[in-house]
Amino acid sequence: MNAHAQTVQERFSREAGNWNGLYDQTPTRSIYTHNVRHRKAQALELLAGTTGRVLEIGCGAGNVILAAPEELETIGVDFSVEILRQAKVNSGERDSEFLAADALSLPFADDSFDAIICLGLLDYITNYRSVLEGCHRILRPGGPLIVSVPNLTSPFIRIDDFGFSLKNRITHSLPDRLRTWLKTQVMGKDDKPYFSHRKQRYNPAVFTQNLDSIGFDIDQTYYHTYGFGLLNGISLNLKVSRQIESRNRSKTLEKLGWTYILKATKSPQQ
Ligand SMILES: C[S@@+](CC[C@H](N)C(=O)[O-])C[C@H]1O[C@@H](n2cnc3c(N)ncnc32)[C@H](O)[C@@H]1O
Repeated sequence: MNAHAQTVQERFSREAGNWNGLYDQTPTRSIYTHNVRHRKAQALELLAGTTGRVLEIGCGAGNVILAAPEELETIGVDFSVEILRQAKVNSGERDSEFLAADALSLPFADDSFDAIICLGLLDYITNYRSVLEGCHRILRPGGPLIVSVPNLTSPFIRIDDFGFSLKNRITHSLPDRLRTWLKTQVMGKDDKPYFSHRKQRYNPAVFTQNLDSIGFDIDQTYYHTYGFGLLNGISLNLKVSRQIESRNRSKTLEKLGWTYILKATKSPQQ
């Protein structure tokens, strides 16, 4: 595992206990919470009609896969053992399997799943094509891959990335004690370690081209979340996003969303 993957693994292991809070039904002002809840709802909608064996890659605490219809055989994979522990607790009576594995080398036989879900994982993967090729190998022909990624062409993401990197550059040029004081005393935040891993963003045209060349047919693409991470917690930020999501959007406006979720089907073998 490279240094980037290790940092990501460490981050999610530390945050293993936080995921349930994101998915509980309490009203939120957070654009991030909205984003994960929205993509979960969308993924479950796209999964409707699937039967058989479903895999979630990068399943976190299992909050998505455990909400899939009971009649499905569900398996979750993640490389953080701590977060999988939380997933097992969350599974309660449900007979769901959770397995520690790297998304880059999936330990499953060819054509062995009827559907695959992959939400918020590729944000952390530098060699994403390899994950998509793995999905293609283990998915049965005609089976759907439901995958969400951050939209490189979204102005919301671009402005946020610029703002956050500027903020990080400034705060990390400060002496440690001053930075800790500002964070804990002025901003009232925990003094958690700072993870400087880079998040991947995906140009929709390039991403779909890659899926196509691997052997997937794109069925549907849905864009969502129209707000700024920099304005997280400000209710107007979230209200605007909800308004845009609930309307009949033009193709141009729609494509400004932070995240897009695709349903792509493994082409029947030649
Ligand atoms: C943003 S969380 C998403 C969790 C879940 N899919 C959800 O939507 O609630 C990303 C997850 O991917 C996992 N992950 C990141 N890189 C991975 C890799 N190379 N192999 C397996 N899991 C990975 C992390 O440990 C984390 O649990």
